[in-house]
Amino acid sequence: MQKIGIVGATGYTGFVLISTLLTHPEVKITLITSNTYKGKKISGVFPLLKGIFEETLEPTDEDHKGKCDAYFLCLPHGSSMEMARRLYDGRAIIVDLSADFRFEDAALYEKVYIPHIAKELIPKAVYGLPELYRDRIKGARLIGNPGCYPTSAILAVYPLVKNGLIAGDIFVDSKSGVSGAGREAKLGSMFCEVSEGFRAYNVGVHRHEPEIQKEVNKFAPMKVTFVPHLLPMNRGILTTVYSRLKEHAATKDILALYRKTYDGEPFVRIVDEGAYPDTRFTRFSNYCDIGLKVFEDGRIVIISAIDNLVKGASGQAVQNMNIALGMDEAAGLKSVPQYP
Ligand SMILES: NC(=O)c1ccc[n+]([C@@H]2O[C@H](COP(=O)([O-])OP(=O)(O)OC[C@H]3O[C@@H](n4cnc5c(N)ncnc54)[C@H](OP(=O)(O)O)[C@@H]3O)[C@@H](O)[C@H]2O)c1
Repeated sequence: MQKIGIVGATGYTGFVLISTLLTHPEVKITLITSNTYKGKKISGVFPLLKGIFEETLEPTDEDHKGKCDAYFLCLPHGSSMEMARRLYDGRAIIVDLSADFRFEDAALYEKVYIPHIAKELIPKAVYGLPELYRDRIKGARLIGNPGCYPTSAILAVYPLVKNGLIAGDIFVDSKSGVSGAGREAKLGSMFCEVSEGFRAYNVGVHRHEPEIQKEVNKFAPMKVTFVPHLLPMNRGILTTVYSRLKEHAATKDILALYRKTYDGEPFVRIVDEGAYPDTRFTRFSNYCDIGLKVFEDGRIVIISAIDNLVKGASGQAVQNMNIALGMDEAAGLKSVPQYP
């Protein structure tokens, strides 16, 4: 059994990691941490774990180096890089769910976020999007788990940009449930601020735009315009990408290209022509569903759906750990989406 530590276990991604890893046949959670709830049982924080998982939370700020085979950092950016520096020993796997190790270019990270205090670790980190970087993840000891919106956007455009089929720019229009903002109390996440409304936010300044942009630019020099929206639901992301093909192709041919690109991928499903993804069909699962339509004049619309807390965060983090540890990539992630 591999020993697992969840650092910052009291947030949404921490909870989803606990519930996912409890069903994993080859790991045991041996460390959960929190500063706010240190000394308390996790079932006191999440009563739904009563009788299932009753471990006590250890202080996040204590020294936990060397205790586990894999650590998941479920902390805000900034705190994660500090923690990675404390835990990294070149042996244990660290999967960071924050943005701190998603950028290969420290200067770009600092432009978008804050000064990076663990720059020496950046060259060791791999961007943890298995469908693109599985081979690199295999040997990695530090994995920067992708952002939730970038996961949905990059998987939606990858087959087209990889094959050089897009002319012009990409417009990424995403909608997310409120759990994307985390569990910590914030005015903008309160019920009355969110329910019965629907709004765009951080237009042109959202930190996920440069993350999508740098990945797209590994294949082509096109511009990405990203507009996130907040939907009055708990979880799920629906992303709609608008662009134009260099040459007209039939919808069925582009769908065939997507099926070929993602052939054998355990968590990408291409929906049939004329059908489109729905966040209800990926909820509580690690699936990314993708559908698309090509118009007569070459315009193309691609739509993807994920659960922001699973494929957009903790599920993908477990997928990365499985790959890095050489285990079945889908171990612990075989749950059927929950419906209705
Ligand atoms: N929510 C999503 O859909 C999503 C998707 C992708 C990536 N992410 C990223 O994943 C990370 C965790 O997100 P989340 O949604 O789980 O957040 P969250 O619900 O707000 O939980 C944050 C956790 O971090 C701890 N924490 C907060 N500030 C800290 C500090 N200064 N020092 C040490 N610990 C601190 C909290 O522990 P205490 O108990 O000690 O307060 C809590 O356990 C973030 O970087 C986020 O951007 C989130």
